[in-house]
Amino acid sequence: LAAFFAPKLLAGQQVLITAGPTFEAIDPVRGITNLSSGKMGFAIARAAREAGAEVTLVAGPVHLPTPRGVRRLDVVSAQNMLETVAGQAQAATVFIATAAVADWRPATSADHKIKKDGSGAVPALAFVENPDILATVAQSPRARSGQLYCVGFAAESENLLEHASAKRQRKGVPLLVGNIGPATFGQDDNALLLVDADGHRELPRASKVELARQLVAEIARRLRHTRA
Ligand code: CTP
Ligand code: CA
Repeated sequence: LAAFFAPKLLAGQQVLITAGPTFEAIDPVRGITNLSSGKMGFAIARAAREAGAEVTLVAGPVHLPTPRGVRRLDVVSAQNMLETVAGQAQAATVFIATAAVADWRPATSADHKIKKDGSGAVPALAFVENPDILATVAQSPRARSGQLYCVGFAAESENLLEHASAKRQRKGVPLLVGNIGPATFGQDDNALLLVDADGHRELPRASKVELARQLVAEIARRLRHTRA
């Protein structure tokens, strides 16, 4: 009963979350994308909402239902995702980047379907780098002044702690969350490594929904400290 009357962990917070992959068009029927089910980001959106936050979820192409009470904005490409996030970030107090953003997109996207010409010749694709959404938000004045708390994710195939620590500093975020392998794409459970300026701590293997609740509690604790 006491828990019912206690203020919720994220009451008054505006949480902005990216989730899922992005899709970068080659032509109207083809593109490149990343493996990502979006489940971790959707679970965090649900947990943040249940913790009392106003939640906006910017989702790439995924097949998941919108968590109850969450405002969802669907996007396709990394550039769409950045525009949508930039439009929402002014109102946010917490930004959590779980999306598996495609690092590169085709330099040009054909207006019409590219056809085989019958000679066996293959098309050559040139790529350009996509904007880094997390780094862009983390460098904004509100993030730098502590009004917007930024959290990044990292999926590494080796040396998780080392890569996650370096990535945290490179992106300029106070908290970076590593997915502890093996790859968890599409799975319902995961294990996480939390890396901040003070060190690291593991959230042992559990369902993504349970881990999302634990992560929300960790973020709430850090908000109390940084904004106390
Ligand atoms: N991210 C982002 N925009 C990008 C690339 C990544 O917002 N264009 C975010 C991801 O959502 C994640 C974090 O940055 O929160 C780390 O993503 P990751 O792919 O692990 O790192 P990169 O900086 O892209 O480095 P690399 O893929 O080379 O390891
Ligand atoms: Ca990447």
